[in-house]
Amino acid sequence: MRHLIDPMDLSVQEIDELLDLADDIIAHHDKYTKVCEGKKLATLFFEPSTRTRLSFEAAMMELGGNVLGFSSSDSSSSAKGESVADTVKVVSCYADIIAMRHPKEGAPFLASLKSDAPIINAGDGGHNHPTQTLTDLLTIRREKGRLNDITIGFCGDLKFGRTVHSLIKALSRYENIRYVMISPEELEIPEYLKEEVFQKKNISYQQVRTIDEVIEQLDILYMTRVQKERFFNEADYIRLKDTYILDMAKLKKAKKDLSILHPLPRVNEIAVEVDDDPRACYFRQALNGKYVRMALIMKLLEESA
Ligand code: NCD
Repeated sequence: MRHLIDPMDLSVQEIDELLDLADDIIAHHDKYTKVCEGKKLATLFFEPSTRTRLSFEAAMMELGGNVLGFSSSDSSSSAKGESVADTVKVVSCYADIIAMRHPKEGAPFLASLKSDAPIINAGDGGHNHPTQTLTDLLTIRREKGRLNDITIGFCGDLKFGRTVHSLIKALSRYENIRYVMISPEELEIPEYLKEEVFQKKNISYQQVRTIDEVIEQLDILYMTRVQKERFFNEADYIRLKDTYILDMAKLKKAKKDLSILHPLPRVNEIAVEVDDDPRACYFRQALNGKYVRMALIMKLLEESA
């Protein structure tokens, strides 16, 4: 039985196959409407979510399967003190596959040790978010036609942003990726990523404080929200939350074929005026998330069309 806890749990070849399958689902949707008939997906969300949970549920429904679950820890037995391990042990008797989001780093991994059904990490604290990474990779490949040879700028909360951490890891296996890290000093990527990904693989990266000084170079600009819920002190959040606001003026110097990605939700970091620019990919990205999750559910349940 396979789980997806960390983006590196999948080989590059498996990722390519998943993206190919997602492309095929987009092109030939009708072929896939019954492949998970009789199967159930449980979504166990101990932390807020809109896109991830609903796209998982929509994905399973479009594959002909059913969904059950909860969207906050208050409405589950964890409010009574049940451990994640016990919750999962039980839910895996009711469902064929489980997507779990939890504020504690490592909780989905722990769950995978106890579960009788495949576990998908739908975000664990500030750690990983592998299905957002699949969404991002599908979006980059569909927008750019390639996953090699790109200059990508990560902007905003690189310290707590789990989508950033997972995408950095995943991209480190492709050729000729130039990383540009745009953040305040306090929100730089964690040391473990610098050591385990960049130093270990001998990958160099640029670290800057403003979008303006690098925007011309970028093929992809990956904007992120400052992760309010991970701050220890509200004053720091308030001071840092509006450090970067991407607007049309800032995009003047950008490439004509820049792709602007954002895992969403957005707060203030992208002005609404940018939404109408063809370079804004974030709503297409959210839609891609449903298709790549359809592909992932099929893979983990070993179903084919
Ligand atoms: C992200 C997350 O939950 O990490 N959202 C998502 O899943 N699309 C990003 C965020 O919350 O800022």
